[in-house]
Amino acid sequence: MWGPEGLDEAEAGLLGPLEELKGRDVLEIGAGAAQCARWLAAQGARPVALDLSHRQLQHALRIGGAFPLVCADAGALPFTDGSFDLACSAYGALPFVADPGLVLREVHRVLRPGGRFVFSVTHPIRWAFPDEPGPEGLSVSASYFDRTPYVEQDEQGRAVYVEHHRTLGDRVRDVVASGFRLVDLVEPEWPAWNTSEWGGWSPLRGNLIPGTAIFVCERD
Ligand SMILES: C[S@@+](CC[C@H](N)C(=O)[O-])C[C@H]1O[C@@H](n2cnc3c(N)ncnc32)[C@H](O)[C@@H]1O
Repeated sequence: MWGPEGLDEAEAGLLGPLEELKGRDVLEIGAGAAQCARWLAAQGARPVALDLSHRQLQHALRIGGAFPLVCADAGALPFTDGSFDLACSAYGALPFVADPGLVLREVHRVLRPGGRFVFSVTHPIRWAFPDEPGPEGLSVSASYFDRTPYVEQDEQGRAVYVEHHRTLGDRVRDVVASGFRLVDLVEPEWPAWNTSEWGGWSPLRGNLIPGTAIFVCERD
């Protein structure tokens, strides 16, 4: 699943034709509980699920799956050059790092020539709107161009949650500067069947402004 709209890879085919996933080495970045890796393994691929959070990987382990789990920073991948045919990330790592170029260069390094990296992030336009599902979430309340990160702190003033904003142009430049070719930029529309509402996600907003941006990148 690429994002809250509900677009899934079986439908989208962004990593390539479904029947060609079999036997492919695929790296999932910011895997969380490794939902994508689990689906990839079911298609016959050979996924590796990577996340910085040991706790998330414990959830992945509990749910199960016959693929390796790796606890590491996406900006310092513990793999040799050209280890994977494909890489993917659904809202993993990239929105949360100050230097997304570092992650992109690392993914580029561990992919084999011709390899694809498909990643989804919150659509940059959402930065300008409050994170509310109702009508209050439809009025611009912040500058789209303000790259100051969103930070939540605990009582001791330690950052416990950080999100970094990149404009659409920033993201395109990050992708190209890291050596990838941008093949497609997918903005899934909110489907009629999806009536769910959580956080800032809702049919009301989804029908009016994009919520997810999916970058399809290729290593030449
Ligand atoms: C919003 S969750 C997405 C999880 C999963 N991909 C999904 O679709 O549910 C973001 C994940 O990125 C991970 N993450 C954040 N920064 C990271 C980094 N620098 N390296 C690796 N993983 C990171 C977090 O621990 C978290 O599991």
